[in-house]
Amino acid sequence: MASNALEAFTLEYKQLLEQELRNQVETLNAPAVLKESMIYSLQAGGKRIRPLLLFATLNAFGMDPKNGLNVAAAIEMIHTYSLIHDDLPSMDNDDLRRGKPTNHKVFGDAVATLAGDALLTYSFEVLCKTPNELAPPEVKVKLLTELAKAAGAEGMVGGQVADMEGEDKALSLEELEYIHIHKTGKLLCYSVLAGAILAKAGQEQVKNLLTFAHHLGLAFQIQDDILDLIGNQQLIGKPVGSDTANHKSTYPQLLSLEGAKAALKNQINKAKFHLEKTGIKTELLLEITDLIASRDH
Ligand code: IPE
Ligand code: IPE
Ligand code: MG
Ligand code: MG
Ligand code: MG
Repeated sequence: MASNALEAFTLEYKQLLEQELRNQVETLNAPAVLKESMIYSLQAGGKRIRPLLLFATLNAFGMDPKNGLNVAAAIEMIHTYSLIHDDLPSMDNDDLRRGKPTNHKVFGDAVATLAGDALLTYSFEVLCKTPNELAPPEVKVKLLTELAKAAGAEGMVGGQVADMEGEDKALSLEELEYIHIHKTGKLLCYSVLAGAILAKAGQEQVKNLLTFAHHLGLAFQIQDDILDLIGNQQLIGKPVGSDTANHKSTYPQLLSLEGAKAALKNQINKAKFHLEKTGIKTELLLEITDLIASRDH
């Protein structure tokens, strides 16, 4: 259960973000089916954990979370594109996402692929629309460079390729960790880093925040693996047993369910340890960390 403070925070900023996502796509001068497909997945729900991490990081530095609205929308667009592509028949071949039929089930593989492409490319433009008073050009270049790194070959895309290559193989824990850190961790790390960049955090703070987010990202994907095994489809809004069907290496598969739960706890403890070293107002971030450990969806 979230505290009243976190519940109010989540409600306020989720609403703002969702409005922003819709507005940004609606203003596009593009084929109707493309916009429909983009909006379908953006508005399908989702926990919005990455935008919330960014907003909570800004809050922790005493900044107005709204300063990060464009960056948050950009992150959620990239995350949503990654989910559309992840569900395609050539990847995880899943039919359900965020409680609704997957994008390709509704729009077909070609439009779904292109909606993903459009969300990816538009995210950079949306980030650039941040007013210069909030992020001068040199800050935007830094935000863009780090986002491109986190999302691309050295980040999420690289992790997705390693995940695909790992199917039907017995991976070592180290190899599995590489996959989790990249396919999921890098975008979560960016969400925190972007908050730190906007807040002009010091070097030492950035270092501790990144280590915090590194462990948080690992914990997040370990729980995703656990939920794929023992979650409730109604709650998680995606198929249970997808990893088993695709012969993926996962934490529960490698360490047993109990071992995966212990690894999750270990990552959460490490995350909190480093967060506390930052000396910022950590209440919301700590609470989000606990929720990530205990989440059922
Ligand atoms: C699912 O992400 C894919 C992973 C990287 C684990 P989320 O669990 O954040 O999915 P939504 O956005 O809430 O649907
Ligand atoms: C995918 O991991 C992470 C992405 C970059 C989309 P999963 O394949 O485990 O994500 P889910 O379980 O389908 O959401
Ligand atoms: Mg996948
Ligand atoms: Mg998947
Ligand atoms: Mg999964």
